[in-house]
Amino acid sequence: MEKTGNIFLIGFMGCGKSTVAKSFSQMYGMDMVEMDQEISMKQNMSIPDIFEQYGEEYFRDLESALLKEIGAGARQIVSCGGGVVLRPENVAEMKKTGRIVLLTAKPETILKRVSGNEDRPILKGRKTIEDITALMEARCPKYEAAADIVVSTDDKSIEEICEEINYV
Ligand code: S3P
Repeated sequence: MEKTGNIFLIGFMGCGKSTVAKSFSQMYGMDMVEMDQEISMKQNMSIPDIFEQYGEEYFRDLESALLKEIGAGARQIVSCGGGVVLRPENVAEMKKTGRIVLLTAKPETILKRVSGNEDRPILKGRKTIEDITALMEARCPKYEAAADIVVSTDDKSIEEICEEINYV
């Protein structure tokens, strides 16, 4: 199938997907989609409320359905939820229409970025270096298998990260 120039940013919570997607869309004139924001708007509920009231599987179904919708559009930079790679069908869906870019960051950087934020049910009560490292290591093979390119975000400016994504 012909690819339609979408870019999907994947990676662990707090690796900078949303921030990078926003800047990238401004720098290179692409439409931006922030998946969690979109799901929250469509359901008229916060992500923690969706998890609490309907459970994780329900949220994952919403995520898969949204990815299919996104695939109908072209030239979008998509900030994916950190768990999108958990379903192989999602990875296949993204590959149909674009490139998958994995953003990485050290657990210390992630902890700094997610502390003081209660929007992520998966990290509830698990905001320690040990728990973040363990969760990250468990997911790492899936992130790496899905990625077309890997961009480390530690010690780089947002502009540098965007240029790197655009260059490769
Ligand atoms: C999740 C990541 C979150 C959000 C949900 C689950 C995950 O997105 O989709 O809380 O399982 O990693 P961000 O990566 O944008 O925080």
